[in-house]
Amino acid sequence: MKILGISGSPRKDDTSGVFTLVKTVLENTGIDYELISLRKKTISGCIACLGCVKDNVCKVDDDLKPLRDAIVEADAYVFGAPNYYSTMNAGSHALLERFFQFRHQAGDLLWGKLAVAVGVGGTSGSFPADEIEKMFLYNFIETVEKVSGQGAASCYSCGHGETCMVGIPSMIHGEGLKITPDMIPDVKKQPDVMAAAEKAGKTLGARLKEGHDRMQVTQAMQEKMMAMFEGSV
Ligand SMILES: Cc1cc2nc3c(=O)[nH]c(=O)nc-3n(C[C@H](O)[C@H](O)[C@H](O)COP(=O)(O)O)c2cc1C
Repeated sequence: MKILGISGSPRKDDTSGVFTLVKTVLENTGIDYELISLRKKTISGCIACLGCVKDNVCKVDDDLKPLRDAIVEADAYVFGAPNYYSTMNAGSHALLERFFQFRHQAGDLLWGKLAVAVGVGGTSGSFPADEIEKMFLYNFIETVEKVSGQGAASCYSCGHGETCMVGIPSMIHGEGLKITPDMIPDVKKQPDVMAAAEKAGKTLGARLKEGHDRMQVTQAMQEKMMAMFEGSV
């Protein structure tokens, strides 16, 4: 059994809140895992060429190509993305758009699998976590837990954070701000967030170990998706 972790942050692993939380979730599953960072990877969004319709294999030749087997073979996913403009960042969204390749014909490559969604934002990570859950739903993947934390907005280290009128530090702390290291948000300093990541890992690990009926999960996710559409069409 194997879990695939994906950190959608372009930041270096040791400075990314997303990477830290995804790794913490994975470590707490008690199951073998692989953790991939999208940093420096070039992955475009879906170009709607329909090249994947016959064989469920995307024909776009970029850094997603070598990851396809790991995505198909994984029994579950821990996917994390940073909050950019109150949604997930473009790199993470692009990768999840390309999950379109798994949705044709029998389309059962990912159906009924389990996942944990992780989001980190300068204020909150709930927007990307919710978006990840929604995109997983399209592949009938059940998000068993969501984890959201506050990370360090670049404005704390860009050199203008104390005077910038549009940056997150002035929004949070107000005018006349003096930035000190202790006020820079870090998920590792948020015990409730770290505890939520540990709990999410344990929940995912337990669900996988006890075994789950993928067809049952698929049906439940189909119903959830239809309920989401109700009233919108
Ligand atoms: C282009 C850009 C847009 C951002 N927009 C938001 C935003 O709308 N809301 C928010 O809370 N944080 C926003 N942030 C801050 C990031 O979410 C924050 O730095 C977070 O720690 C990123 O996660 P990471 O540390 O794993 O990269 C933005 C950052 C960038 C670079």
